[in-house]
Amino acid sequence: MDLEREVARHYTHGALADAIRRALIASGKDPDNLAPADLAPVDQFHIGGAEATAALFAQARPAAGSRWLDIGSGLGGPARHLAVAHGCTVVGIDLTEEYVAVATDLAARVGLADKVSFRAANAAALPFEDASFDGAALLHVGMNIPDKAALFAGARRVLRPGGTFAVYDIMRVGEGDLAYPVPWATDAAASFVETPASYRAALEGAGFAIAAERDRVGFALDFFRALRARMAQGGAGALGLHILMGETAAQKSANMVANIERGLIAPTEIIARAV
Ligand SMILES: C[S@@+](CC[C@H](N)C(=O)[O-])C[C@H]1O[C@@H](n2cnc3c(N)ncnc32)[C@H](O)[C@@H]1O
Repeated sequence: MDLEREVARHYTHGALADAIRRALIASGKDPDNLAPADLAPVDQFHIGGAEATAALFAQARPAAGSRWLDIGSGLGGPARHLAVAHGCTVVGIDLTEEYVAVATDLAARVGLADKVSFRAANAAALPFEDASFDGAALLHVGMNIPDKAALFAGARRVLRPGGTFAVYDIMRVGEGDLAYPVPWATDAAASFVETPASYRAALEGAGFAIAAERDRVGFALDFFRALRARMAQGGAGALGLHILMGETAAQKSANMVANIERGLIAPTEIIARAV
């Protein structure tokens, strides 16, 4: 099986729309009368959830009315945040067709269908014209993509000069074997976690200048501590990322936290500008 098919298989749930609908109802929400924030427990598939998304784009400072591309857009939470909090129009692309369908449905349910749209595509072959976006985002996607130079060259091509690239990925910061499975991969063969230095080099090689970089380990460990405390009090809730991670959700999350605590990986933001 080639890598793209394996990645899509890894993320495909099979009955995701229905599972989210049932979880919304179980958590007291009306699936036919939702606000974007109601989806936050499930539609932000990265460490720190909606808080991390807001923090990333606070750094990136998208202009109102600007046009953004979200590469590996998942269920569309970050794209909807860009629309609601910053007044952007957003196109999301993702390999996982089920995610594209659910993201499209959720955007319509919260009244954002005219601001955000989603389509199936590979980050390695972006189906857009040169210089057609003001900004691009990549949240917890690079771990699935071995060729960062090609990924960033594609992002640079579709951005206008001066455009912003906001990256929030899990990066390699120490030597040693990672514990698997993790949320993005079942084993090492499908995981391409690289160092911040290699991200910087690949970004600069693709025609970006690095504007800012921030290690988010402290934020992440605080986030997981607060999550554990809520779970201990029975407050984890029906709507959550466990829906996306399947039967091994607890193991994937525990391994990811252990890998961070052992100093092997770190969620890291990089803000770059297209030169
Ligand atoms: C951990 S999820 C993050 C989703 C979203 N960015 C978020 O933060 O909520 C990783 C996503 O990247 C997508 N993905 C992985 N490799 C991709 C590729 N080569 N092209 C497009 N999407 C890809 C997956 O399908 C999945 O939706």
